[in-house]
Amino acid sequence: MSVHNPDIKRITTRVIQELKTKGEKISALTAYDYSMARLVDAAGVELILVGDSASNVMAGHETTLPITLDQMIYHAASVVRAVRRALVVVDLPFGSYQGNSSEALRSAIRIMKESGAHAVKMEGGLEVKESIVRVLSAGVPVMGHLGLTPQSIYKFGGYAVRAKEETEAQKLLEDAKMLEEIGCFSVVLEKIPAALTKQVSDSLSIPTVGIGAGPDADGQILVLHDLLGITKEFKPRFLRRYADLHGIITGAIGQYVDDVKEREFPSKEEAY
Ligand code: KIV
Repeated sequence: MSVHNPDIKRITTRVIQELKTKGEKISALTAYDYSMARLVDAAGVELILVGDSASNVMAGHETTLPITLDQMIYHAASVVRAVRRALVVVDLPFGSYQGNSSEALRSAIRIMKESGAHAVKMEGGLEVKESIVRVLSAGVPVMGHLGLTPQSIYKFGGYAVRAKEETEAQKLLEDAKMLEEIGCFSVVLEKIPAALTKQVSDSLSIPTVGIGAGPDADGQILVLHDLLGITKEFKPRFLRRYADLHGIITGAIGQYVDDVKEREFPSKEEAY
């Protein structure tokens, strides 16, 4: 596939908005590397998130907190090199935007310049409003992220469903409206009650993209490795596995090990 292929219509933030307007659901997935991003893009996903879940999935950390801006840029640049059609959104990692709005702008500009991505995602509502406004003012599209925001995991004390109580639900609604007003192009809603997702999605004109947020978000996102069944231990109720790659990959590698031990590989035909 070529960058200049006229048959490929690039997905822009405007296209993402149009999908909501015409009532078509948005499909989104994470990707962190070139090879997987090629597959995700070729399969027709509209939005690829280079999530800071790379901290867990790629680096084996317990939380998303340790991943650095340099590491996010490395992952994002690899994904951008692979993608021909999807909109590529990159997480601003923990500690790269919460301090002040100048730091947020510097971080977002580094991501856009050094990776070639199309937008950034930032977690939080009113607390990070100034930072989001500053990034938006530089012409960088921003996706918000409310509900369970993993960068605040130590404040929440766990990964339980958020905004079940009226006060937190009300704040989430207000934060979502604020994110729309300041100019975010979309908002991720993570692990909140389905009824609240419906309320937020109905009250916003920008699209919501849900994870563990029920069927009424304007789009759905999952972590690629969870959907493919590579991460076997992670089994939240919201996750649907579309493959058992853990079994397929360990099976294939196990067969290779046996073949080497049994001197079945390589054969004469596989030698020079
Ligand atoms: O980092 C990530 O993968 C995310 C998604 C789960 C929305 O933020």
